[in-house]
Amino acid sequence: LKVGVLISGRGSNLQALIDACADPSFPAEIVLVLSNKADAFGLERARTAGIPASVVSHRDFADKPGFEAAMDSALRSAGVELVCLAGFMRLLTADFVERWRDRLINIHPSLLPSFKGLDTHARAIEAGVKFTGCTVHFVRPAMDEGPIIVQAAVPVLPEDDPHALGDRVLVAEHRCYPLALRLIAEGRARVEGERVVLSQGSL
Ligand code: GRF
Repeated sequence: LKVGVLISGRGSNLQALIDACADPSFPAEIVLVLSNKADAFGLERARTAGIPASVVSHRDFADKPGFEAAMDSALRSAGVELVCLAGFMRLLTADFVERWRDRLINIHPSLLPSFKGLDTHARAIEAGVKFTGCTVHFVRPAMDEGPIIVQAAVPVLPEDDPHALGDRVLVAEHRCYPLALRLIAEGRARVEGERVVLSQGSL
């Protein structure tokens, strides 16, 4: 399965996907990384791994449809079949999301549907939840909504601050994203009636 990854920053989830794809038996390959920020560290990670990486800056376009059309054509020219959002910090229009329906996934640092949006770890601590985690899901036009593919729960410890909790959740993210990608690439995670049905097989 040919994968494109959209990033805006550090790219640690991109790195987890790169590392998974480095195994010749892994059923997906990253053929393109796009960043809307020229200084995203994830671009270095892609180049180090020998993956084509380019910048499509939202600032270079008069409007969001123009920005998305540029990303869409880069993805299609590279033969991308599945798009992974990995710390991509721009909201996508419904038009773009529908064009990639069920071929566009995202990772979010909470157990959705709790704590959509930003500052998830501070809000989880504030709410007093004892577990939080991460979610990989198919993207729908509404932010942080869509059929859930994989989740992992992570304990919130009494001494946690958002940074410490975020670091613990990130470890789980780096396991969940490659797992979700593998399930999709192997045809074992399919959307049926706005839920993901996972089929049997060894994880
Ligand atoms: C991750 O916490 C991800 O869940 C969220 O943005 C962060 C990106 O981190 N969507 P990185 O760029 O993958 O290191």
